[in-house]
Amino acid sequence: MKKGVSFLVTVALMALASFLASAYDPSPLQDTCVAVDDPKNAVFVNGKFCKNPNLTVAEDFLYQGLNIPGNTSNYVGSIVNLITVDQLPGENTLGMSLARIDYEPNGQNPPHFHPRASEIFTVLEGKLLVGFVTSNPEHRFISKVLNKGDIFVFPLGLIHFQFNIGHTNAVAIATLNSQNPGVITIANAVFGSNPPINPDFLARAFQLDRKVVEYLQARF
Ligand SMILES: *[C@@H]1O[C@H](CO)[C@@H](O)[C@H](O)[C@H]1NC(C)=O
Ligand SMILES: *[C@@H]1O[C@H](CO)[C@@H](O)[C@H](O)[C@H]1NC(C)=O
Repeated sequence: MKKGVSFLVTVALMALASFLASAYDPSPLQDTCVAVDDPKNAVFVNGKFCKNPNLTVAEDFLYQGLNIPGNTSNYVGSIVNLITVDQLPGENTLGMSLARIDYEPNGQNPPHFHPRASEIFTVLEGKLLVGFVTSNPEHRFISKVLNKGDIFVFPLGLIHFQFNIGHTNAVAIATLNSQNPGVITIANAVFGSNPPINPDFLARAFQLDRKVVEYLQARF
């Protein structure tokens, strides 16, 4: 009897674990759920309001212009065009989004992570050094040089980056398993928070001089 109960509990826990392992964005409950801002005429709420499926049109599932290179004239020499549910409402409830990233030679996509998504990264043009760091306490740095046609995975929540080490512009497509993956750029979040984090606190946390922290806070 007791054995039967513990077996059931084990099965239930395993089912829960596999559910948690797969459950990021909610699973779709209908064929289409095009995001609309106005709940009038909406039929179901799951992340964003869904448009009445009878009224969906091809344009709800269409984004155009990803062939156009982004402007990389900025201090990191790269630009991300992230197509979340806000740009492509047909993604709503489907747990996916996509980005085009352009890099000039020497350009970088600085260390960052996505709180709600893993990423699968495909190089279309150029040569990129990419890497991620595993969590405490190992902090293993997993890194690779990628060329055109190479794919790399950045697991959920881990700090990662890309760096154009080639002599030409580079282009990549990042696909993420959330309609709203979020981005936390480490330097901007830590040194550019609003309002600023106490510089004495950061100086001790990062083992830096307070002046260096103030310099970084001014930059970000
Ligand atoms: C969609 O169309 C069908 C068939 O006309 C209708 O039965 C259904 O009520 C409509 N659904 C909504 C949410 O309007
Ligand atoms: C790219 O951005 C820079 C800096 O904002 C700007 O000066 C330049 O005109 C832009 N170039 C194009 C082609 O839009």
